[in-house]
Order: sequence, then C-alpha cells, then structure tokens
Amino acid sequence: MTEKSDNIENAAAFLSKGELVAIPTETVYGMAANAFDEDAVKEIFRVKNRPFYNPLILHTDSIEKIEQWGVSLPPRLRRLAETFWPGPLTLLLPRSEKIPTNVTAGLERVAFRIPSHALTRSLLAQLDFPVAAPSANPFGYVSPTSADHVMRHFNGVISMVLDGGSCDVGIESTIVGEEDGKIIIYRLGGLSVEQIERVIGNVEIRTSSSKPDAPGMLERHYSPKKEVIAVDTQEEIDEQEIEDSAYILFLLEPPGFDLPNVIHLTPGGNHEKAARQFYHALRNWDDDPDIKRIIVERLPDFGLGRAINDRLKRAAGSQNLNP
Ligand code: TXA
Ligand code: MG
Repeated sequence: MTEKSDNIENAAAFLSKGELVAIPTETVYGMAANAFDEDAVKEIFRVKNRPFYNPLILHTDSIEKIEQWGVSLPPRLRRLAETFWPGPLTLLLPRSEKIPTNVTAGLERVAFRIPSHALTRSLLAQLDFPVAAPSANPFGYVSPTSADHVMRHFNGVISMVLDGGSCDVGIESTIVGEEDGKIIIYRLGGLSVEQIERVIGNVEIRTSSSKPDAPGMLERHYSPKKEVIAVDTQEEIDEQEIEDSAYILFLLEPPGFDLPNVIHLTPGGNHEKAARQFYHALRNWDDDPDIKRIIVERLPDFGLGRAINDRLKRAAGSQNLNP
C-alpha cells in the first residue's frame, strides 16, 4: 500500500528508515530518498528504471546545511542562490567527500536545489540529511505534476506520496553551473534565461544532446507513448490528420469547429500558465485510448516558452520508438 496524504511526520519517518517518498515541489514531483543512504538511493534507480550514469539532484532547505555537508558555493553561483532560492534553480557545485558517489554518478560536481513548495520545505527542515529526488516518473516518461500522476505508476511500489496538490511551475528546474569562469545553463527550466541574465549577465546555453552531461538533455526524453507532432502555424495544423488526433494549443485554433479533443493551454498567451498545464495536458491525451497522436503548438521562444519548446522537441523526438 502506498500512503497518499499531506502528513509530513509520516514522510519524514519513511525517509529516515531508507524508504521512498514522492514529494511535491513547485516544479514537478520528485522521487525522494535519504541521499546519504546508498541502498535507498539505489532503490530510486531501480523503481524508475533509471540508468546509473544519470546523477540525482539533492534537495534541502538551507544554504547553511549545504555548507555543513562540505559543499561550497562559488561567488556568482551563490548570488544566483541568494536571488532565486527557494525556487526552480538547480546549481552544480563541487562535490565534497560527504556526498556519496552513486548520487553524482561519479562526476566531480553535485547538483543541489532548495525547492519552494511549503509542505516540502517543512519536511526538509526536519531532516538532517538531503534528499536525492529525480522527477517521479519512469525514466524517459513525462514528469508528474500531481500526486495522482505519481500514483499512476508507483502505487504499491513506494511507501508514500506526499500530496501537495498541483505543481505551480509545472516544468523542471533550470540547471546552472560554472566552467572556466563562465556561467552555463545545462537544462532550460522553470527559471527563465532572462531572469538569470538580469542578475549575472550573459550566460552560455549548453543543452545540446550530442554530449549528454545531463540526460535531461537526451534527444528522446520527457516522452509520451503516443506520437507527438510539434507545429508552428495554422497551416501546419490544418495539414495533420484530424481523426484520432488530440491538440494542445496556445494561440492557434483547431482545424474545425466543435472538436472535443482540444486543450487550450491558456487563453491570452501567458507562458507561466502554459508551463503549469503542459504536462497535465500531455498526460491527459496520452492516457486517452481514443487518441493516436498529439499535435502540440510551439510557444514563442522566450521566457518559459523556451523551456517548454525544449521539452516538446524531445517529446517529439520519440516518435514511434515507444509505442
Ligand atoms: O525540478 C527538478 O529539477 C525536479 C524536482 C523533483 O526537483 N527534479 C528533476 O530531476 O528534474 P531529474 O533527475 O529528473 O533531472 C535532473 C537532471 C538530470 O538530467 C541529471 O542528469 C542532471 O539533472 N544532473 C544531476 N546531477 C548532475 C551533476 N552532478 N552533473 C550534471 N548533471 C546533473
Ligand atoms: Mg526527470
């Protein structure tokens, strides 16, 4: 039995015993375990069917704790942390001896994040260890943005889902690090490039899939089982087959009146609202047995639109590989 509740004492007890608890964050739900317990961390990889070369993000509630574990923040990354934590920002920091190598997949850096979801922050404040928490989905599938999304795949498999409602941001955190004095974004996410550059100046964006330092960059990732087709224009929408298709649209219109299979992400074109709905919409059509393909409109390429388009590209990169 998997407990689904908002009881943080139970969640803390399970984590302290080395068991898995899915936790809500403002980005997506995470599959959490005590990061200092190597067997518990192994269990995360097992239930997600995640390859061991893919490192995990550690979550905690204060910079002081991160420093107590021997991990220091270089000045410019500290500035980002002080500006955007708690929030949808993950920093790659020099690993300390205290951080087990199965968390970092043997890499020299460890990923840390202080999430802002209130329930999870109170949970983390009770713990004297960080929790390792990748998104709580089977490897390669769409990330979960509600407790029910997590239950869909992990009911009976993990001890608990801490139910914190729907995720506010709706896409994963932005991953940032520093190399040779340059600030680099390795994964676009819930904190926009513009927000980061306003604090730190120009950054390099290195999310290419040719050299996957972070598998969130893999060409095929974040993928529904159904075929996903990304479109930019009304003409491209009208060219697609209507039968068995569902639509996720932003500004454009479906190819006819009274089509039932349409989700408009947000009337009015607000990128934050679109991000909040995006994974809900993908999962909705993926779970609908009458639908064979999902036609999704790309967003204008700025703000969170850029991160959503990145996910869309990778979801569409999966066509028919995973029927
Ligand atoms: O918003 C988020 O970041 C969510 C919530 C739960 O916090 N977590 C999440 O974790 O998206 P995950 O495991 O699905 O994606 C983490 C990404 C992976 O692509 C992983 O390769 C990369 O972060 N990553 C983790 N540690 C790393 C490291 N030391 N060096 C490079 N990449 C790292
Ligand atoms: Mg993930």
